[in-house]
Amino acid sequence: MQIAIDGPSGAGKSTIAKALAKELNFIYIDTGAMYRTVGLFALNKNIDIPNEPERVEECLDEINLLVKYGEDGTQHMILNGEDVTGKIRTPEVSIAASNVAVLPAVRLKLVDLQRLQAAKSDVIMDGRDVGTYVLPDAEIKIFLTATVEDRAMRRYIELKEKNVATSYEEVLEDMKFRDKNDSSRAFAPLKAADDAVVVDTTGNTLEQSVEELRNLVLSKMKGEA
Ligand code: DC
Repeated sequence: MQIAIDGPSGAGKSTIAKALAKELNFIYIDTGAMYRTVGLFALNKNIDIPNEPERVEECLDEINLLVKYGEDGTQHMILNGEDVTGKIRTPEVSIAASNVAVLPAVRLKLVDLQRLQAAKSDVIMDGRDVGTYVLPDAEIKIFLTATVEDRAMRRYIELKEKNVATSYEEVLEDMKFRDKNDSSRAFAPLKAADDAVVVDTTGNTLEQSVEELRNLVLSKMKGEA
């Protein structure tokens, strides 16, 4: 079984998907982490991604990406043998990920990996184009959204907890940039699939959103919704 959860940054996709995957005994696949890993690689090579997209494309064959799961089910990203899971959550890598995600060659490489992972077991996959492009036949598709201010505040609090030096205004600007970049790209942009259920989590606590999605997924699984 395949469950696709798409939506803009900071809507709570990953936390909710992780919690549901655990309950349902599904594998959780975070596709954003893959774009982040390619973004990190490009940053490490000092590539100015928006202005030198050809350099990203030229070095794609040098990128060996592996997805591994820890004992607790957390997804680890292995980039050319190095576990970079702890390095891909910075604001700089967020922007780099959004910028490499515009490039069709990058997307094709990562979509192959995502489909291979999905073929192995029951999955909950989160991203931007899972319901529209990666897994168009997913049995359950959810598009999770919230106002940009709400999402920025949640992300700001998360970053603060991780001691990342940033301000709310900076996070809000980054989020607006990514919303625009992710929605306006030509190839597999961020958008709700026609058959997705749109859930707006504005004003919810995370617990409320998890509960809402749990009810939705369970009733869909029983064929009620
Ligand atoms: O979900 P995230 O914030 O970790 O994703 C980082 C960036 O990767 C996001 O700004 C857009 C891109 N992305 C994408 O284009 N397609 C996906 N399926 C997942 C992420």
